[in-house]
Amino acid sequence: MNVKDLLDLKGKVILVSGGAGSYGKSIVEGLGEAGGTVITASRNLTNGQAVAQAFRAKGLDVHAMQVDQGIHESVLSLKTKILKSFGKLDVFVNNAVARPMKGYEDSIENFAESMRINATGMMDILREMCDLLGKNGGGSVINISSMMGMYGPDLSNYEGTDMGNPPPDYFFHNGGLINLTRYLAKLMAGKNIRVNCVSPGGLFNNQPVRFLENYNKKVPVGRLANHDDIKGLMVLLASDAGAYINGENILMDGGLNA
Ligand SMILES: NC(=O)c1ccc[n+]([C@@H]2O[C@H](COP(=O)([O-])OP(=O)(O)OC[C@H]3O[C@@H](n4cnc5c(N)ncnc54)[C@H](O)[C@@H]3O)[C@@H](O)[C@H]2O)c1
Repeated sequence: MNVKDLLDLKGKVILVSGGAGSYGKSIVEGLGEAGGTVITASRNLTNGQAVAQAFRAKGLDVHAMQVDQGIHESVLSLKTKILKSFGKLDVFVNNAVARPMKGYEDSIENFAESMRINATGMMDILREMCDLLGKNGGGSVINISSMMGMYGPDLSNYEGTDMGNPPPDYFFHNGGLINLTRYLAKLMAGKNIRVNCVSPGGLFNNQPVRFLENYNKKVPVGRLANHDDIKGLMVLLASDAGAYINGENILMDGGLNA
């Protein structure tokens, strides 16, 4: 089969959780540009609709739905809406993240709140969407973790800034997601569902100049990720071109941790 046909997402229904967020928007755009029908789902429907509308204006087939992955009924309702509107699901990009914790000293209640959304809620939406994929004869799950799920923090990046220290919950749940990927890849054997993980490095988001100076000089590529960097990887893993990639965690950090 021609590689352009293998990469084509035409006819595929793709859910991106947190598709209105920073990396989420790039993921939605890339998958839409490759021909997919993309649904972004997050807590705030108005934000999601604005993102979907902007991409539709560019000719992409993007739709918005509401979900709070911390509420089981909300996850079930999303499932029902996807089936009713599109009849199936082919790809789930598990990208949403809640950030209730601000640093190491933050309250343990905020750690628990993070686990409610980023561990328990995330497992819930993963399991329910795998059920939809299975009912459709298989598909692809792409978990979005972080290089911070693979390595400890480089605290020297924050020197000279008022950014404080990075929150511990983020390292904990992103680390867990990488091994949950391997678990699910094995468990989904026989259901034709591939489960992979992408662990990106930092995305440029107008961070303080001092942080950029500290960070960029350590990256062989010389910069933070931009909005195009994640698109190709998403299309590869979502499409038939990635049919033999399964149970993998792909670090995408410009060589920072090489
Ligand atoms: N931004 C970065 O520099 C960076 C770097 C590495 C990895 N990542 C990873 O990329 C993914 C997305 O991160 P981001 O920076 O784009 O996040 P973000 O904070 O910009 O967006 C997160 C999205 O998740 C949604 N969300 C939060 N709680 C939710 C809930 N309970 N139910 C449903 N949706 C909910 C939000 O509404 C938002 O749309 C995460 O997995 C993160 O670990 C981000």
